[in-house]
Amino acid sequence: MPLSDLTITPLADDIAFGNRVAGLGWHNINDEDTRAQLRQLFIERGVLVFENMEPTPKMQLELSKVFGPLKDHPTKNVPRASGDMLGVIDMHSRPREDLGHDHGLTIFNGRKVYSFLPWHFDHSYNDELNYAGVLRAVIAAPVDGRTGFADGIDIYNKMDAGVRAKIENINAIYTLDVRLTQMRFGRYFQSFGDLEHERANTKEAEVFPRAIHPMIWQRPTGEKVAHFCGFSAVGLENHEDPAGEALFEEALQEMYRAITPYWHKWNTTDMLIWDNHRVLHAVEGCDPKYERQMHRTTIKGDYNLGRFEHGKKIGEVQREVAPLLLPA
Ligand SMILES: [Fe+2]
Repeated sequence: MPLSDLTITPLADDIAFGNRVAGLGWHNINDEDTRAQLRQLFIERGVLVFENMEPTPKMQLELSKVFGPLKDHPTKNVPRASGDMLGVIDMHSRPREDLGHDHGLTIFNGRKVYSFLPWHFDHSYNDELNYAGVLRAVIAAPVDGRTGFADGIDIYNKMDAGVRAKIENINAIYTLDVRLTQMRFGRYFQSFGDLEHERANTKEAEVFPRAIHPMIWQRPTGEKVAHFCGFSAVGLENHEDPAGEALFEEALQEMYRAITPYWHKWNTTDMLIWDNHRVLHAVEGCDPKYERQMHRTTIKGDYNLGRFEHGKKIGEVQREVAPLLLPA
């Protein structure tokens, strides 16, 4: 069956990746031809925004499974939903009106915001990446709160060839310490004290090995992808020296210059999937007085180019880390 009952349109005129998809529901989501064609469209376009979806965890899980099996999260300090939402990660920012302090807030674009996240890919601190994620806004902020997406193929093509050549065979090093206050490279925001759950993660980070990922990789379909970020990164492999630090900063600044982002303003009936091997994402944040709740699923499927330092494997790491995280 062709995608005749789906309407596929570009995300925006000036965006070289992604599509909007309207017309998917229970009546056609289990049709094998439709599923196969959605998978192919996703490989080609990197981001799909499904509009007018039934806003339930059941539909989000079913949509996710079109693209691959679900994956559990590699760290312990991420809230899991349960029951019929098994496999859904809950990211909930409650209103913060009585602050009295600025912990967790960020100044970005001249505004003080909450829930900000700089450009990154998920699971950078792990040896294995997830293939994709499906995001849904259960509660959308009325103003701001958009999620940004930027295509690594587009970035690669637009980056200065001289800078690109310098990082073509270089790997970046990432850690589980994802506190914004600690981000060393490519900062384009101002952050204040850490939140409690961000500090909790640092205990696990102390015993979690560092992960290594290539800054540029080539897809089986031939395209090269610029795929690195300053978030959770600590430097370049074999170049943890001033020259390496300068190169990392230069590459990040050139990447920011080359980015043509798509910023998604959320409706609660949207579901958005992005290819985590290819597409970077960011959260612009919103006024702390607003509540924001996002549900995300994680879809398994690695690009097989990441690894832990010293050849460790995730099973071994989890066995070593788990006893150290037991409450005292
Ligand atoms: Fe993320």
